[in-house]
Amino acid sequence: MRIKPSGWALAGLAAALCALGPAGARAEDASVQDPAAAGRAVYLDYGCAQCHGTVAQGSISTPAIPGFPLRPLVAKLRSKTGGMPFYSEKVLSDENAALIAAYLAALPPSRPASEIPALSR
Ligand code: HEC
Repeated sequence: MRIKPSGWALAGLAAALCALGPAGARAEDASVQDPAAAGRAVYLDYGCAQCHGTVAQGSISTPAIPGFPLRPLVAKLRSKTGGMPFYSEKVLSDENAALIAAYLAALPPSRPASEIPALSR
C-alpha cells in the first residue's frame, strides 16, 4: 500500500519542524537537549578518556568512574591531591563538569574483572 501524503499531514510536519526552533540553533542548546552526549564530548576533549577509558571503564592504574556523582566529581577535579591532573575552574568550568557527570550517569556500571571470563581464568 502506498501512503499518499495529504496536504494537512505536510502542514503538520512543517509546523512540527518550526516548533523545533530555527536552523542554526546555538551550540549550548545541544547540551540542554542531550546533556549526556554533550558531556561525552567534554569528557573526550579534556582527556579524561586518556586515563579513565572512553566509557570510563578505568584501567589497571585508574579507577572506573561510571555514575560518579557531580559534587565529589567537582571536588576531585579541584583537588591537587592524588594521581590525577588538577583541573581549575578556569580550565574546566562547573558547567562542563556537570555535563561530564551527566555522561558518567548515563553509562552502565563497569563489571569487575572477576565477571569477565577472559580476565578471570
Ligand atoms: C593522567 C591521567 C588522568 C586524567 C587525564 C584524568 N584522570 Fe581522573 N584519575 C586518575 C587517577 C590515577 C585517579 C586515582 C588517583 C586519584 O584519586 O587521584 C583518578 C581519579 C579520578 C576520580 C575519583 C575516582 C574515585 O573512585 O575516587 C574521578 C571522579 C576522576 N578521576 C575523574 C576524571 C575526569 C572527569 C577527568 C577529565 C576531566 C579525569 N579524571 C582525568 C587519572 C587521570
